[in-house]
Amino acid sequence: MSETLTLRRPDDWHLHLRDKDMLKAVLPETARHFARAIIMPNLVPPVVRGDDALAYRDRILAALPDGMKFTPLMTLYLTEDTDPDDLAEAHTSGLIKAVKLYPAGATTNSASGVRDFDKVRPVLERMAEIGCPLCVHGEVVDADIDIFDREAVFIDRVLDPIRQAVPKLRVVMEHITTQNAADYVRSNQTGLAATITTHHLVINRNDILVGGIKPHYYCLPVAKREEHRLALRAAATSGDARFFLGTDSAPHTDPNKLSACGCAGCFTATNTMSILAEVFENEGALDKLEGFASLHGPAFYNLPANDESITLTKGGPFRYPEKLETPEGPVTIFDPGMDLHWRVA
Ligand code: NCD
Ligand code: ZN
Repeated sequence: MSETLTLRRPDDWHLHLRDKDMLKAVLPETARHFARAIIMPNLVPPVVRGDDALAYRDRILAALPDGMKFTPLMTLYLTEDTDPDDLAEAHTSGLIKAVKLYPAGATTNSASGVRDFDKVRPVLERMAEIGCPLCVHGEVVDADIDIFDREAVFIDRVLDPIRQAVPKLRVVMEHITTQNAADYVRSNQTGLAATITTHHLVINRNDILVGGIKPHYYCLPVAKREEHRLALRAAATSGDARFFLGTDSAPHTDPNKLSACGCAGCFTATNTMSILAEVFENEGALDKLEGFASLHGPAFYNLPANDESITLTKGGPFRYPEKLETPEGPVTIFDPGMDLHWRVA
């Protein structure tokens, strides 16, 4: 008899779905396994106002194939001109579940992000008042800060001061990549959580650079030293409810990745649950996977866990396709570089 693992249906607390043809192509990859996802607002132009989020949600639902169920949890992109009343209305009506802070210039489509954090203080205070969480891309962009240090420096220079100034603000540190971030989250009792991606549990910076450059392993925040990957695995598999899954699955076509100036992002929507089961099993923590993928996120966002479940079955090693074909071009599916044995039924 084969081994099986049944979990509450998981959610993805950080996802890039894009728009138009790409949205149509990637949405089923997520909806096949996940019930809900926090949808990143870094479109061009970004999703800034409640009306933008409403229209984007409708486009997502229209792109969902017949027979599939999926709930997009919308976010707004915080700018220095964000209107606090519009934001509050979008949150109170239930349309948005969070607001996303991108430091200007930190990553893909972040040009409209925040340069002067003092300018958004009134908006953050309003969010604290109404209980709207802030999802943070935690990297400074100063030219003199080494790219591998940008997350750790962000905690000291930006995040901690924001949290001191607006203590009631609920914050999700997104896609953490360092021991520093995991420790910072653990040092706080309430109002702070972190998402961890699938790929940061699997690759370190050697995987990007040793033996030739591997553009498909380049994402932001960039993967760090092995000791940090191990710290993330420890956090994810610990059962600590402050850590939960946000895949940051971010589709870019191969020509955009395999370029002299390649885009940042790993596409993991297709095989995330199989990879996570392998990682958690290797860590002797299969019993912690449901918390990480299905329970801790809803608890932080004050939402019920999903009623439905998914079942994974263990068998001989199998492979996912290398690419997802889309009308915009092929998107390479993240290669975890290890055998996978757990298949979602
Ligand atoms: C994301 C994207 O492509 O939109 N890329 C990435 O490397 N993670 C943006 C982001 O979340 O930083
Ligand atoms: Zn992202």
